[in-house]
This record gives sequence, structure tokens and C-alpha cells, in this order.
Amino acid sequence: MKENYYFDNAATTWPKPEPVYQFMDSFFRSHGVNPGRSGSQLAVEAEQMIVETRSMLAQFFGFAGDPSRVVFTLNATDSLNTALRGLVDAGDHVIISQLEHNAVLRTANHLERDFGVSVTRVAHSDDGYLDLQALESAIQGNTKAIVLNHASNVLGTVQDLSAVGALARQCGACFIVDSAQTAGVVPIDMQQSGIGVLTFTGHKGLFGPMGVGGMIVADDVELRAPRFGGTGVNSESPFQPDGYPHRLEAGTLSIPGVAGLHAAQKWFAELGAQQLAESADHRACCQAAIAHIHATEMEHVNRIAAGLKNIPAVHMLGSHAEDQARVSTLSFLVDGTPAQQMSEMLDADYHISVRAGLHCAPLVHESFQTIAAGGAVRISPGYFTEAADVDHLLQAIGDLV
Ligand SMILES: Cc1ncc(COP(=O)(O)O)c(C=O)c1O
Repeated sequence: MKENYYFDNAATTWPKPEPVYQFMDSFFRSHGVNPGRSGSQLAVEAEQMIVETRSMLAQFFGFAGDPSRVVFTLNATDSLNTALRGLVDAGDHVIISQLEHNAVLRTANHLERDFGVSVTRVAHSDDGYLDLQALESAIQGNTKAIVLNHASNVLGTVQDLSAVGALARQCGACFIVDSAQTAGVVPIDMQQSGIGVLTFTGHKGLFGPMGVGGMIVADDVELRAPRFGGTGVNSESPFQPDGYPHRLEAGTLSIPGVAGLHAAQKWFAELGAQQLAESADHRACCQAAIAHIHATEMEHVNRIAAGLKNIPAVHMLGSHAEDQARVSTLSFLVDGTPAQQMSEMLDADYHISVRAGLHCAPLVHESFQTIAAGGAVRISPGYFTEAADVDHLLQAIGDLV
């Protein structure tokens, strides 16, 4: 048995590609200075690395605007708070889905309870896809934002961004997308999907470290600054600069974090270039890498789903038909066994890491009536999962059942 069989990539991808570890270490040693805060050669080079990372991420997400609108934050939660709190005011209406993570649910709940914002939580089908008709009917004259989780971190179901983007455009609302579970695994085209603010986290499918995330703010969207402080520019001004990224980036950035994203972007491009016969630009190479990563991960999760269907007493959440738009995450329960107990046995007896509980998405568990069982057991293979790991997982669940 291996020391660990990691099936918790929806929580964070692990391991990271080797160049990510190497570049974070080497860049922090060679350029661990404060960028933008001094004119030294090292500081200028550190700033250059950050600028390059903004530019690569803009291309990665199909954003043709000014890369200065690619803003670094702590994580997706920070980005979603910044987007929502920077956009809506008392008297505004916000639409979210019942598939949301607490990063959105709790933020919306606080806006509703503490700031006089009204919130509609749109339902999903039994399979975990957003009810577009219900979404359209929820739109009001004062709807300021529609917030959508691109892929459910419980079910793995992927939503149709372009359809929601079109509705948002029609009603003049800002479309805010939570790409925590899809960035790096499902292609995203900000322009084509009509996205106003794209939020992402660094440590999942983007293969960066924890503690860095970001958001891309479309040219026609303006967000209030979430906090105020030093930016290294316009220091004589008593107030936060208006321009991006400084409006939303007060204080020192995580150089190792951004370096990790930088190396990961290069890794995506190289992986994609190997898939493509001819030379191509950063976006095209990354798109090829994303397709390859998604196909690899889906092979694993489809095998897992097929295997679980053959184990009596195991029930997966959702139907798991092969033609559904999905990422490689699924959740299941075993009759009569609380989710937590199942996950503890997998860990203790088989060295398998999964995640049991509500996965910070309580409304999904409410609709699947899995709260009483303590949620469900979530399995999420990743790009570095091996076929033998899947064999071990299925054997272990079969044995335990
Ligand atoms: C769908 C979704 N949104 C938001 C988040 C929050 O990400 P972070 O903890 O990196 O802010 C997660 C993390 O699990 C997630 O799965």
C-alpha cells in the first residue's frame, strides 16, 4: 500500500507540478524583495514577474482587456467578497444559486441580513444543473448581480456560463462567476460568456499554492475598494488610487504565491504545446492542456462512478450519465454508515484521503437530504491520480461495504 492515495483534489490539488515547487523556491530566494516599493533592479524584475502573470492569466481566461484588471487576492473567498461587497448597495437585488459554496452563500446572507440587499437563491434540477427558467423569472428591475458557481464542489456538475451570461447582459446585471472548481479544468472565455467579474483561487485547478487567488474585472465593471493601504504608487494621494490593480490590491502581494501561479501557467502552456502539433500562443496551448487534463481526470472519475454503481448500498448524489457536463468530483453515501465514519475508515485502513461532510455547500446537501447522514463522502481524483489508485479506492470501498 502507498503512504497516501489522494482523492481530495476538489479541496486542493496535490501534488503540484514539479516546476511550481522549483520556481517558487528559486524566485523567492533570488527575488524575495518587495515589488513596486523600490526602484532597485531586483524589485523591478519581481514586478515584471507579476505583470507577466497577470498577462498570462488574462489570456488563459479569454480576457482581451487591460491585464491590470487581473487582480491578485488571497483566494476565491476573498475575491467573491470583494466583488459582491464592492458592487451592491442597500436596495439592490442579487441572484445566486442553491449550488453555491459558503464563500457566496454566507456573503449573500450577510448582505441580506446586515446591508439591506435582497437575495434570491435559485434551485437546481435533481441532477445538479441550474434551473435557467427559475433564474430568468427571478430577475427584477433592481437585480444588480447574478453569482454562479461554475462547477458544484459536491456534485461536479458544470453550469452553462454563456446561457447565464446572456440573461445577465439582457437585464444589465453583473455576472460574477466562481471558477474555484473549474479554472484549469474547463475552458473559460470571459468575453464570450459575458462575465463581469471572474473569480478564481490559486490552489486548486490552477496548480498554484494556497494563499493566492484573484479576479478579473471586466472593463465596464467598477468595484469599490475592499480595504485601503499602501500600493507603492501615488503615495502622496490621501486615498486609494482608482486605477487597477491598485484599487483592489492594498498591501504587499504574496511573491511566492504569484510565482507559483506564474510557473503553473508556463507548465500549462508546455503541457498544451506537447498536445498540439504546431506552435501556438499561450491561450491556445493552455486550452489544449485544459482539454487533456479534463479528459484524464474524467477517465478516472467515470471509472469510479461505474465501479460504485456496482457496489450494493452505495448511492451517488445525482445521476452520473456519461453525457453530462462535469468535472471529476462525485459524492456518495453508503446505507447505514455516516459519511464521516466511511471517510475515517478509508483513511485509517486504506490510506485514502477523501472529504466527508457538507463541503461548505449546505443547500446542496439540503436538496439531496443528506444533512442527517452528516453530508456525503466526496471523491475527487486529479491529473496526477494513477489508474492503480482508482483500483485501490474501488477495492477499499467494496471491502468496507
Ligand atoms: C465552489 C467553491 N467556491 C469557493 C471556494 C473557496 O475557495 P478558497 O477556500 O480557496 O477561497 C471553494 C473551495 O472549496 C469552492 O469549492
